[in-house]
Amino acid sequence: MADKSKILIIGGTGYIGKFIVEASAKAGHPTFALVRESTVSDPVKRKLVENFKNLGVTLIDGDIDGHDNLVKSIKQVDVVISAIGNMQIADQTKIIAAIKEAGNVKRFFPSEFTMDVDHVNAVEPAKTAFAMKAQIRRAIEAAGIPYTYVSSNGFAAYHLATMAQLGLTAPPRDKITILGDGNAKAVFNKEDDIGTYTIKAVEDSRTLNKTVLIKPPKNIYSFNELVALWEKKIGKTLEKTYVPEEKLLKDIQESPIPINILLSINHSAFFNGDMTNFDIDPSWGAEASELYPDVKYTTVEEYLDQFV
Ligand SMILES: NC(=O)c1ccc[n+]([C@@H]2O[C@H](COP(=O)([O-])OP(=O)(O)OC[C@H]3O[C@@H](n4cnc5c(N)ncnc54)[C@H](OP(=O)(O)O)[C@@H]3O)[C@@H](O)[C@H]2O)c1
Repeated sequence: MADKSKILIIGGTGYIGKFIVEASAKAGHPTFALVRESTVSDPVKRKLVENFKNLGVTLIDGDIDGHDNLVKSIKQVDVVISAIGNMQIADQTKIIAAIKEAGNVKRFFPSEFTMDVDHVNAVEPAKTAFAMKAQIRRAIEAAGIPYTYVSSNGFAAYHLATMAQLGLTAPPRDKITILGDGNAKAVFNKEDDIGTYTIKAVEDSRTLNKTVLIKPPKNIYSFNELVALWEKKIGKTLEKTYVPEEKLLKDIQESPIPINILLSINHSAFFNGDMTNFDIDPSWGAEASELYPDVKYTTVEEYLDQFV
């Protein structure tokens, strides 16, 4: 444990952050989580924080707005991982400034955990959200901070459990709406695996100043393939409606926040195929399951079994 990198996670009490905190602690890294005071007193999040304590995580009271405290916190560790939420992406310039001042950080992972933002071609409002993450990449590079970007692609609970049907929490059993012709390929990863791969990348020289793309071969599916797999599992044929692109674009324009954001991300993933429509060049990136073949990731097939 003594020679393992010390990791500070900012946003560790968030949806994806908690999986990263757990993976870090379980991998034996001295793990620190920056936690806001209001969160510790929140009845739901308090349990999460208790679990962190049980895992041996050191809690640091603070937030990204307290510069001096942030610098002091960062000085205690080797690696900083941000899993801050969508609304705070631009605020990560505060983390960049603190890392720069602290001067000791061997690796920074900004909050990404989505498609590779240098290879997307989204419509608004996802376009601006992805562009903001790309701007943070450029700010990190300009500051000369060593980095790893994690492109996790779709969170399983968000995109696979729902099969991209807004409002559902489990795959539908009667009818399904398929975006476009259903042939663009997307990638779905279980959140624990995203945490595991992120932590694996921390001390890996192959991921220094590179993007780690989580695209395990058994988790790449087109909408049509996914529906066929689900139909086979439940032994039933679903009634299918195919949504043409013009209709989806109109829905995006007419929907309120955050529905329009979700729909525009779906457009990027399921119409454009933005998770899969480019090759990974070793000069800038590597695929996680190739880097870490020892990780037994949960496949899409296995994940869907829980809903049968
Ligand atoms: N690929 C996908 O399918 C997918 C889906 C969803 C999100 N994402 C991405 O995943 C990343 C994380 O999103 P999420 O949904 O997991 O986030 P989230 O649940 O909204 O959590 C955000 C975290 O940031 C913390 N935070 C907010 N403001 C802060 C501040 N001023 N100082 C310190 N901490 C602060 C929150 O703390 P509190 O607990 O105190 O509020 C929480 O821990 C984002 O980049 C998002 O775009 C990807």
